[in-house]
Amino acid sequence: MIGVLVSGTGTNLQALLDAELPVAAVASNRADAAALTRAGDLPHASFELADYPSRADRDAAMAEWLSGHDVELVVLAGYMHLLTAAFLDRFPNSVVNVHPSLLPRFPGAHAVEEQLAAGVSESGATVHLVDEGVDSGPVLAQERIAVLPGDTPESLHERIQAIEHRLLPRVVEELCAR
Ligand code: GAR
Repeated sequence: MIGVLVSGTGTNLQALLDAELPVAAVASNRADAAALTRAGDLPHASFELADYPSRADRDAAMAEWLSGHDVELVVLAGYMHLLTAAFLDRFPNSVVNVHPSLLPRFPGAHAVEEQLAAGVSESGATVHLVDEGVDSGPVLAQERIAVLPGDTPESLHERIQAIEHRLLPRVVEELCAR
């Protein structure tokens, strides 16, 4: 079963749900994440850092909760906190992330703006295995698009997200079939 971690609007979570993948539970680092409302009747919960003595304690609690819902594969769908070993060790080689750039270029929370500022001619989306670094870990799949003259962060991100919404469910489906 799949556990999805979210922090934002949750369009990638929606793509996983629309693909009818076996999502068992949704967790967030933010109680006010709009993405949580997409979970509907699925078990969903928030694990705010402020409620725990340390990030490792929060991550351990989140991992425990997901395991309790039979989660074996974790998908970060716009989850904007780093995960510690307290979480990653519970799901070895089974945590994946989607990111709006051609990693390893432009990791981090402002990848779209940074690509435009750098004047790149090509962008894209990456799905990769997660380690303790910032958007690091082995790349599983990547798809490219051209950056167009006049692109704004919004227009570029919209085209990247259209890729993400196809690429992420495809990779997750492949991982479920392992
Ligand atoms: C996605 O575009 C994802 O690639 C990005 O956050 C967005 C979340 O959108 N993730 C990162 O930048 C990770 N470093 P969503 O909440 O609508 O799925």
